[in-house]
Amino acid sequence: MEVTININGEPVTREIEPALLLVHFIRDTPGLTGTHWGCDTSNCGACVVQMDGLPVKSCTVLAAMAEGHEIRTIEALSIDGVLDPVQQGFHEEHGLQCGFCTPGMIMTARALLDANPDPTEDEIRTAISGAICRCTGYSNIVRAVRWAAEHEAAQPRRS
Ligand code: FES
Ligand code: FES
Repeated sequence: MEVTININGEPVTREIEPALLLVHFIRDTPGLTGTHWGCDTSNCGACVVQMDGLPVKSCTVLAAMAEGHEIRTIEALSIDGVLDPVQQGFHEEHGLQCGFCTPGMIMTARALLDANPDPTEDEIRTAISGAICRCTGYSNIVRAVRWAAEHEAAQPRRS
């Protein structure tokens, strides 16, 4: 079957097997390998992208189900080389070590801040509870998201 999926504002068309997962479509066709594939069993959260602004695990979505929806990946977050505040927050607060979980964490956090610009620590921990980081212990990730929230409150983000 042929599907067309809008990824980061660009339509991407490809012949696929009906069972192809969105994570593989994203990584293979436009080559956006910033979306990681960690488990394929909906446990790790490394594959999170935004679908119509909501975080989804792209290993739980068939590519065919994404037709007609807007997919946003980590590659679309920086604008003109300027990091998104969530990306900058991970840098400032050392929110990563190996970086494998980071794209999913950042896309999840970005969706959280878009819906709730001033989340509490509990709200951040709940938002990222579907993602596993084996390196950081989560404290720095929470601080990174708070850094982004405070930065955006002081200096609204360009969109
Ligand atoms: S690859 Fe999707 S949750 Fe792990
Ligand atoms: S930074 Fe290594 S898994 Fe999160």
